[in-house]
Amino acid sequence: MGAIVEIEGVNKIYGTNHVVKDLNLTVEEGEFLTLLGSSGCGKTTTLRMIAGFEEPTSGSIKVEGEAIGDKEPFERNVNTVFQSYALFPHKTIYDNVAYGLKMKKVPKAEIKKRVTEMLALVQLEGFEKRYPSQLSGGQKQRVAIARALINRPRVLLLDEPLGALDLKLRKQMQLELKRLQRKLNITFIYVTHDQEEALTMSDRIAIMHDGVLDQLGTPSEIYENPKTRFVATFIGETNTFDGCIRSIDGEHVSVMIENGNICGCGKGFALNEYITVSVRPEKMKYSETPIDGFTIKAIVKDYVYVGSVIKCIVSLPNGNEIKIERLSGEELPKPGSRVYIYWEEKDAVLIHNQDQLIFQAVDSIPLG
Ligand SMILES: Nc1ncnc2c1ncn2[C@@H]1O[C@H](COP(=O)(O)OP(=O)(O)OP(=O)(O)O)[C@@H](O)[C@H]1O
Ligand SMILES: [Mg+2]
Repeated sequence: MGAIVEIEGVNKIYGTNHVVKDLNLTVEEGEFLTLLGSSGCGKTTTLRMIAGFEEPTSGSIKVEGEAIGDKEPFERNVNTVFQSYALFPHKTIYDNVAYGLKMKKVPKAEIKKRVTEMLALVQLEGFEKRYPSQLSGGQKQRVAIARALINRPRVLLLDEPLGALDLKLRKQMQLELKRLQRKLNITFIYVTHDQEEALTMSDRIAIMHDGVLDQLGTPSEIYENPKTRFVATFIGETNTFDGCIRSIDGEHVSVMIENGNICGCGKGFALNEYITVSVRPEKMKYSETPIDGFTIKAIVKDYVYVGSVIKCIVSLPNGNEIKIERLSGEELPKPGSRVYIYWEEKDAVLIHNQDQLIFQAVDSIPLG
């Protein structure tokens, strides 16, 4: 594998709006990379710059070692699938898919062969003569994908391609798209704001937050080891505690938070540093008696059954709520009971905290 898309020091500024900030990202050949982030964080803008529809304000983007902007759109080995499908309404499905090959003046017989193959690949055999208005949302989306793939691009850019589909179809299409990507061995750069979709489909995820690439990693790296507070809270459910490091002993770190003291382990932290401690609901534990190193008392408020798991909500003295999760059938304390909250030190993720507001909040904690 080698690099197929290289984004170096890219900024995009619209007027006074700095939309993409010093983005560095290398996409490997054949990988499924997802740009994930909340609305307005710069995902579509980044994709449009890779496609060559939009010029970076500064920095460079190369596809297969060459600047994409120097090529005419039809010369580019990059194609895009838009959320809106953008099919030609007055052309049949066959003609929609054949379009790119006709533009390239590919011989008719070859067009027929390739369109037939491609429609089979997206499971739309027999739909050749229909028009887009005669298809369901999922079928239209498959036509859009077939049309984008027919030119055999090296890189396919997909901007929330499943956004308009209902949940069930969306899940089915996620698997189909992944299968297609593996089979054709085409690099996919996929945009979504749905973290579950990103976790299921991607080889690597790039998490964007306010135009900044917060973290790049495999789904498990990002889930298990978030590098920023934003990533920790954006991916999956978690409980976060902001505090200040009060003692360090080897990798053992003790942290003072608003509700008491907690522990975790990690390297590269300093005494008196402000940090966020993130603990997943499935890693939270409770005890009726105090646990060494932890002094958070809580009251069990409520249970929520979510099929295979039970979520237990406990309330801290400052009113914050914490989620504990167990498989259904496992025992949990009764609502109203008082418990001590703790976890295995290895299950806490310690995150350097850069947020000034949180510093102030932590500084205002009364000592004693
Ligand atoms: N052509 C433009 N001119 C001015 N501002 C723009 C333009 N295109 C995008 N923006 C702004 O850039 C920011 C990022 O937009 P972008 O479309 O990249 O977000 P996104 O991450 O794709 O969000 P969503 O999930 O809602 O699609 C937004 O604040 C948007 O208003
Ligand atoms: Mg967008």
